[in-house]
Amino acid sequence: MMLQNDLLLRAARGEAVERTPVWLMRQAGRILKEYREIRNRISGFKALVETPELAAEVTIQPVDILGVDAAIIFSDILVVPEAMGLPYRMIEKKGPWFDETIRSKADLKRLCVPDPEAELGYVTEAIRCTKKALNGRVPVIGFAGAPWTIFSYMVEGQGTKTFATARKMLYTEPGLSHQVLDMITETTIAYLKAQIAAGADMVQLFDSWAGILPAEQYRNFGSRYLKRICAEIQEVPVTVFAKGAWFALDDIAEMDCRTVGLDWHLQPEMARKKLGNDKTLQGNLDPCMLYADDEALVNATHQMLKRFGPRRHIANLGHGVYPDVDAAKVKLFVETVKAYKQ
Ligand code: CP3
Repeated sequence: MMLQNDLLLRAARGEAVERTPVWLMRQAGRILKEYREIRNRISGFKALVETPELAAEVTIQPVDILGVDAAIIFSDILVVPEAMGLPYRMIEKKGPWFDETIRSKADLKRLCVPDPEAELGYVTEAIRCTKKALNGRVPVIGFAGAPWTIFSYMVEGQGTKTFATARKMLYTEPGLSHQVLDMITETTIAYLKAQIAAGADMVQLFDSWAGILPAEQYRNFGSRYLKRICAEIQEVPVTVFAKGAWFALDDIAEMDCRTVGLDWHLQPEMARKKLGNDKTLQGNLDPCMLYADDEALVNATHQMLKRFGPRRHIANLGHGVYPDVDAAKVKLFVETVKAYKQ
């Protein structure tokens, strides 16, 4: 199917664009009252993720309401550990929770490398529903967590400030850690390929906890696996978003990905110098700018566009939009990018 708006894909490939494309990480979710309505109608986050028609509906909401240039499939990175054998729960006001974790060799018996169509068919079905309903209006972004971030949740069993148990395991059980990371990597490759076969036009890898490892550890247990995934996914442009991993930009520059997501710590000029001209940069407004007054927000958005643009830039925040941000501010951000002339 021909896309009516393929700005995102052209920017990712480094082709000429009339203007910078824009979308937001976590755009599908609690910032929209229309999301909360659907969310309250059914028995929770997980039920929503596992019901393709509803997942497709909330995926499309930001396209209709905010005017973004891409839809990101409504799901979660934690569906992968579940498909591998560790079911998750999403506890209200607390976040993810796993009843079982991976702490020793004996725990490996819980894990498998699943067939994504069999175990994660609700995600591929949600992509097919979304593509059909969008009818080519904008591209659909698929995603997965990076192996290191998924490993962190598998070991800890919940979110923590430091992920110290997971980091400890890299020192005490390096062999076991690599075995688990290897299984996650294989699963992720098959899962992303299934998303692409279902219609995902681009895919993003979220390494949300990259920034808590020392550079050497990240090279060994983090970027090494991202490199492997990037090498395997050639069908569509890949984005690597390794939050906090400013120290790994040289490694990321070597990955076979078209786009690199940047958090708000990174300065555009420095990132461009490290990553070269063959990659598109995505980001990176501080998500807290969306609490500022309109004038400050517009100025900061203009600054961002000026410093990154005009070529090889996809406008976004430096991390996911915070759930209590006013949707009107998000709309102003999107409209400011769309109206900007370089
Ligand atoms: O709009 C989108 O970006 C698509 C949907 C999406 C969700 N999670 C929906 C979600 C995406 C891309 C994710 C990725 C994700 N999930 C990451 C990586 C990105 C990042 O933010 O660093 C991580 C670390 C997770 C794990 C996760 N899921 C946590 C820690 C939480 C609880 C904290 C929170 O934000 O509430 C979730 C829940 C979650 N995932 C929600 C949504 C909309 C909120 C659940 C609800 O509606 O009650």
